[in-house]
Amino acid sequence: MIVTVASMKGGVGKTTTAVHLAAFFAEHGATLLVDGDLNRSSLSWARRGPEFDFSACDMTAAAKESRGKDHIIIDTGANPDRATLKELAAGCDFLVIPTTPTSLSMEGLMSTISALQELKSFGVVLTMTDSRRQGTTTAARERLESFGIPVLNQTIRRLACHEAAPNDGVLVRDVKDRMAAIAWDEYRTLGSEILSHAE
Ligand SMILES: Nc1ncnc2c1ncn2[C@@H]1O[C@H](COP(=O)(O)OP(=O)(O)O)[C@@H](O)[C@H]1O
Ligand SMILES: [Mg+2]
Repeated sequence: MIVTVASMKGGVGKTTTAVHLAAFFAEHGATLLVDGDLNRSSLSWARRGPEFDFSACDMTAAAKESRGKDHIIIDTGANPDRATLKELAAGCDFLVIPTTPTSLSMEGLMSTISALQELKSFGVVLTMTDSRRQGTTTAARERLESFGIPVLNQTIRRLACHEAAPNDGVLVRDVKDRMAAIAWDEYRTLGSEILSHAE
């Protein structure tokens, strides 16, 4: 399965999502993480620490590295225009769009939504949600769904262990934090939900 992670905004959890989806898909077959962001944030994460169960490369090596892979996860940079977003969607089996509940209250909402409405095979994942503000998350979901935007069931909570993981070059499950297992479990459940779209 080819999964691309994209969003109109930066800092919404694209790289965190791409790395953890790659780790999830690696449990289901040979997996490649392609870093399509000029910042190279997922590649430098993967190179900072111990080996992951998936390989990682940049766009220039993607064609060669994808040989023999069952799953390819593509991380992208922020701010694709409408045409680029459509191209990204056309180039994968499923497009994941991380969005924070609070970014939805911002002005760009309508243009984001109209860009999304043109897409097929995609889902918004609400990231960095606040478990003490469940109402904000629910409102964001309802707002998106009222415009016909599919929102994945699994949300990703804002947890400190997510911030520690890239610094150590590890997955969130390997961070010494009492919430680490829960944080990883959210990404595994998200991965299963995305994988079910391939069937
Ligand atoms: N669920 C989360 N909880 C807490 N911090 C997070 C979470 N997801 C991402 N972050 C942190 O937020 C920042 C932006 O995340 P990142 O995945 O790099 O976003 P993007 O790739 O969209 O710019 C990083 O410092 C990252 O560690
Ligand atoms: Mg990124």
